[in-house]
Amino acid sequence: MADKTIPYKIYLSEEDMPKAWYNLRADMKNKPAPLLNPGTGKPLTAEELSPIFCEELVAQELDDTTPFIEIPEEIRSFYKMFRPSPLVRAYCLEEKLGTPAKIYYKFEGNNTSGSHKLNSAIAQAYYAKKQGLKGVTTETGAGQWGTALSMACSYFGLDCKVYMVKVSYEQKPFRREVMRTYGASVVPSPSETTEIGRKILAEFPGTTGSLGCAISEAVEVATKNPGYRYVLGSVLNQVLLHQSVIGLETKTALDKYGIKPDIIIGCAGGGSNLGGLIAPFMGEKLRGEADYRIIAVEPASCPSFTRGTFAYDFCDTGMICPLAKMYTLGSSFIPSANHAGGLRFHGMSSTLSQLYHDGYMEATSVEQTSVFEAAEMFARVEGILPAPESSHAIRAAIDEALKCKESGEEKTIVFGLTGTGYFDLVAYQKFNDGEMSDYIPTDEEIAASVAKLPKVPEN
Ligand SMILES: Cc1ncc(COP(=O)(O)O)c(C=O)c1O
Repeated sequence: MADKTIPYKIYLSEEDMPKAWYNLRADMKNKPAPLLNPGTGKPLTAEELSPIFCEELVAQELDDTTPFIEIPEEIRSFYKMFRPSPLVRAYCLEEKLGTPAKIYYKFEGNNTSGSHKLNSAIAQAYYAKKQGLKGVTTETGAGQWGTALSMACSYFGLDCKVYMVKVSYEQKPFRREVMRTYGASVVPSPSETTEIGRKILAEFPGTTGSLGCAISEAVEVATKNPGYRYVLGSVLNQVLLHQSVIGLETKTALDKYGIKPDIIIGCAGGGSNLGGLIAPFMGEKLRGEADYRIIAVEPASCPSFTRGTFAYDFCDTGMICPLAKMYTLGSSFIPSANHAGGLRFHGMSSTLSQLYHDGYMEATSVEQTSVFEAAEMFARVEGILPAPESSHAIRAAIDEALKCKESGEEKTIVFGLTGTGYFDLVAYQKFNDGEMSDYIPTDEEIAASVAKLPKVPEN
């Protein structure tokens, strides 16, 4: 049994909260490839991006050199409502597993919106307000991002239009109501309300939607309505930047007790929580000051890192967004309908894609029934009902801890617990009723969508 000299929860004070975000790109020798204009095939300029995104966010998106960007006081005071978040020592999970490994998790679900998404939502809403905009549009998958953005917009008095992936809109009516309670309008995507939505519906009648479809609709609405901009909850450099608060706090908490992690694990949808959690650790790795094993965990049914292609692709299904160089399954890839575990995006952050390509991190994929088994074990011993997305990281952390049990190694494992699963109970119900199945796409299915990658010289 562990001697428990480290507290169950390492809390920091408000003073320990980061005053600046850390921009990992500043320390990367190989910078992430720039976003390209799909029309010209040339890197997008700030002028071209500003009809889509808020001006300051465009500047953050394009800034590959400034290591620290000050967090405005208005954002810090909002952060104080739920940050610093605790770093928890999973003593109970360690005991259950009988492992000599020391497991820690950074818990980002202790705010009303239920996940890490609020860290970037409040920043993006702040810059939209500062620019004098009327409102913002966005997409949401399972609804965590839409919920966080609705909450952030209501704080700053901004209008918020959310395009929610149809399958989630139907499966998660309560999440939708939370967004509406914060004042957002929520439309199931694909919808008849946009040109692109009508086109997608005509081509794929009965589709349950995808994040890629919802992004296309949200971008169309933002660009056609004066005073609106589009905001995205993951993938982009700016989102990873805002999420660096997770990693910076984790590092401060570990340093307080002189703990050096061996393995850092995060689930990977578009890459924002993982990019944020690993940021300061990856920075040390890039500067040659320390070494860590860093593992991205993705669903076997949407395996962009482990089975995707590193190429320029559209971030959306309607092919109206900029092209990003990333590990991708092709923008027309839609995970199978039985997939309930989240992390459904076809691509991955360009920053993380470059780091993975350059060998700075690993990736693994896990099947959803094994993810829910891990979630169930975690809930029973640690008491928190985890989001299915977060449970991918739990699965990998448990697997690494079990390897330590076999080898007798006392490794220190840190993983990101990005959110709670109280709105994901339809998925839990399927699991509890033994009705959850796994689906792994065939090579042919992936090849068919990868064959539709855009024809740019870089590809
Ligand atoms: C709770 C939770 N964790 C993780 C993710 C994955 O997103 P990202 O890879 O951007 O962190 C999501 C995304 O929808 C989420 O809701």
